Amino acid sequence: MTDTYDLSFYKEHPKTCDPNDFWSQVKRTVNGKPIPQKQIDMIVEAVCNGLDLSVDDTLLDLCCGNGALTTYLFEQCKGGLGVDFSPYLINIASKHFVKRPQESFKLQDVGEFVDTYPEPEQFSKAICYGSFMFLPHESAYKLLSTLRLRFTSIRKLYIGNLPDKLMMSEFFSGRDYRPGIENDPGAPIGIWRTKQEFIELSEETGWSSTIVRMPPEFFAAHYRFDAILTPLDMQK
Ligand SMILES: C[S@@+](CC[C@H](N)C(=O)[O-])C[C@H]1O[C@@H](n2cnc3c(N)ncnc32)[C@H](O)[C@@H]1O
Repeated sequence: MTDTYDLSFYKEHPKTCDPNDFWSQVKRTVNGKPIPQKQIDMIVEAVCNGLDLSVDDTLLDLCCGNGALTTYLFEQCKGGLGVDFSPYLINIASKHFVKRPQESFKLQDVGEFVDTYPEPEQFSKAICYGSFMFLPHESAYKLLSTLRLRFTSIRKLYIGNLPDKLMMSEFFSGRDYRPGIENDPGAPIGIWRTKQEFIELSEETGWSSTIVRMPPEFFAAHYRFDAILTPLDMQK
């Protein structure tokens, strides 16, 4: 099946923002305003704890956007690589958020990247934050399968900010709902999944996942969840 969705939002939207308004560029906003630093700190803490990120780790950030979040994570490890298909955002990432020689950003579709990257074994941890729901179903399935097959040194993969399908009716009450929007990766929120659907997707692709929730004071805690994936064959 060929994807027929309009996936251009993240290639076009960032260009409408102030070049230094990094959080608006990746839509990390509430009522149109960038979220406070305390909220960013909560994300960084959740990811670092979830990944058990240490100075020995090399991190792969899939759909890294402008690198504004990636840089906090690179600070906690040996370095790594961020990959995104938006030329505008990767340009910002390379200009503002490369702090050491062992940190870099690459312009590429993540599906193509996982299929072709020549040194997949160098990464020990990976993240896909606020982005997985924008991948069409088949691409999401293929991404997780290929990561498991080729990136064999990855011990933990953090998939963050997933829209929870069980909270969808609450979310859309008082908002415009278009039938089928929950399966549209090009919609502003992307694809909604239940926790069980996400667990099944990860198991089918070779991962075991633990679902976690952000603290209630996190701005999106009421309708999103995170998942920490470990290779299925590495379970104790
Ligand atoms: C909401 S932003 C999140 C960026 C970053 N992870 C963060 O949390 O700040 C979603 C990102 O996914 C990227 N993206 C979506 N589909 C992609 C794909 N197939 N390949 C690479 N990047 C993709 C977009 O360009 C955008 O930068």
